[in-house]
Amino acid sequence: MPLDIDKLQARRPQNEIYYFQTLGSTMVEATRFATCGAPHGTIVLADEQTEGIGRLGRSWQSQPEVGIYCSILLRLPLSPANLPVASLLLGLATVEAIQKSTQLACDLRWPNDVLIDELKVAGILTHLVETYIVAGIGINVNQSVLPGGFRTPATSLRIQSNGRVQSREEIVVSLLESLDFFCSMLATEGTSSILRIFNSASSYAINRRVIVEESGTRGITAGLDENGFLLLHSDAGEIERVATGGIRPDYQLRA
Ligand code: BTN
Repeated sequence: MPLDIDKLQARRPQNEIYYFQTLGSTMVEATRFATCGAPHGTIVLADEQTEGIGRLGRSWQSQPEVGIYCSILLRLPLSPANLPVASLLLGLATVEAIQKSTQLACDLRWPNDVLIDELKVAGILTHLVETYIVAGIGINVNQSVLPGGFRTPATSLRIQSNGRVQSREEIVVSLLESLDFFCSMLATEGTSSILRIFNSASSYAINRRVIVEESGTRGITAGLDENGFLLLHSDAGEIERVATGGIRPDYQLRA
């Protein structure tokens, strides 16, 4: 079934909601709205994407009517130096929305992969457009099977809840509510609260053996710096600041 946009708009009158049955990517459409002056909280949703964009030049599988594919315009009080905090905030909001609407416990892998049992259930892409952030969020909701061959194997909320079909509308409403919550926390308390909450919500933030995808550096995670970058105690004995890319678990024992 297509998304019930009337229901969504009735529950979230404060957001401008634009719905498309099929799009190449919601990122492209949302960027167009952003450059035309659309306000904070504008959300572009599609029931299917034919050219879904993932992080690091990857693609995002966007089969019709089973996932959430959306891009949201955010206007946040962030200096360019701590823009990475926006990625963390989006991860926190996505996790809270999933947990509230499905009762499934999620983990976060820096910067913002959402995992259940180490399988990827949601991914987030952030693009800076002029003074806006265009936040692309993809959530695997009602897929019964997912294509294989990814570096991080994927799952869906339905698979993780023993076949229970989940309401995409409910999750989108929760997502917008959670975003409101974390955006006002950022506005009133600054970045430190977001960093503290991320450190405790993510099993990857501290004391986890990982490999940095870009450099191949291996080491143990040591929390976040004040801008939201990940710190790593490398096996070479240095403290490395991971600013871009991602990490994955390192199951190899240290030599
Ligand atoms: C990742 O690689 O983990 C990020 C995936 C982001 C996918 C979402 S789906 C909605 C929005 N539109 C896109 O084309 N990509 C993002």
